[in-house]
Amino acid sequence: MSKRENFTLNEHLIKEMIKVNGIMPAVYRTIDSTNLEMKRRIRNGDYSASLILADEQTMGRGRLGRSFESPSGSGVYMSLLLRPELIPDNVVLITSSAAVAVCRAIMSLSNIRPEIKWVNDIFVNGRKVCGILAEAVTDKDDKMNVVLGIGINVTTDGSFFSDEVKKVAGALFDRDSDATFTVNQLAAAIVNEFMKIYGCITTRDFINDYRKYSMVIGKNVRYLEDGIWHEAKAVDVDNDGGLIVENTDGHNSVLRTGEITLRIKED
Ligand code: BTN
Repeated sequence: MSKRENFTLNEHLIKEMIKVNGIMPAVYRTIDSTNLEMKRRIRNGDYSASLILADEQTMGRGRLGRSFESPSGSGVYMSLLLRPELIPDNVVLITSSAAVAVCRAIMSLSNIRPEIKWVNDIFVNGRKVCGILAEAVTDKDDKMNVVLGIGINVTTDGSFFSDEVKKVAGALFDRDSDATFTVNQLAAAIVNEFMKIYGCITTRDFINDYRKYSMVIGKNVRYLEDGIWHEAKAVDVDNDGGLIVENTDGHNSVLRTGEITLRIKED
């Protein structure tokens, strides 16, 4: 297969490989952000696509107001629409389960061993290769929808990244010729793995795998809360995806998404 086919998203191929009925992909060569596009469509009552993918994003969005650099032809940037009837009470489970789905998908297609850095970044060989951003949006009937955005650097060359992102970002493969699967296979595998978990998300069975893939449990960490850095040891992940840390005074705290920034101590 040619390089172009390996790294160009194709909605027909993706649809063929998705094993769940009713998921309609729409592929863009370039777009500002797949999450933004899905949100625009929801606000307009347009549900014709439940999975939006792009080869390139010009305004990729990350967590905590950051951007997500999304250069052309080397990654998968996609947003899956989750409608109200499917959304569990505990929306935070969606991002944790997506992290597990990405790990399972990568492992089903390769020998790569991904790890999850709490809360939902995927690392390979100590470098971030994937970020996940779930955003809630209300539709015309005031019902909540969730847009689950996933961005993966498949073969992205470090030189594409800004100096800031270069410090942490990596890719699944160093070179295009190393890739053992196509972007279409990866996109479909992620959707298939995610929907398997999502069908029974409230059982929280996936949390065991989340713990297994965690690169944080058992490590010394620092976390930022209310503007103050705390030293602690990550001891476990609870059934809602919260990170349980043991503070230096011996007390445990549970860190929840959005409240804190966590860094693995360098020493
Ligand atoms: C993060 O690492 O902070 C989260 C990054 C999420 C990036 C994905 S790429 C597809 C979707 N569209 C966006 O604009 N962001 C998400």
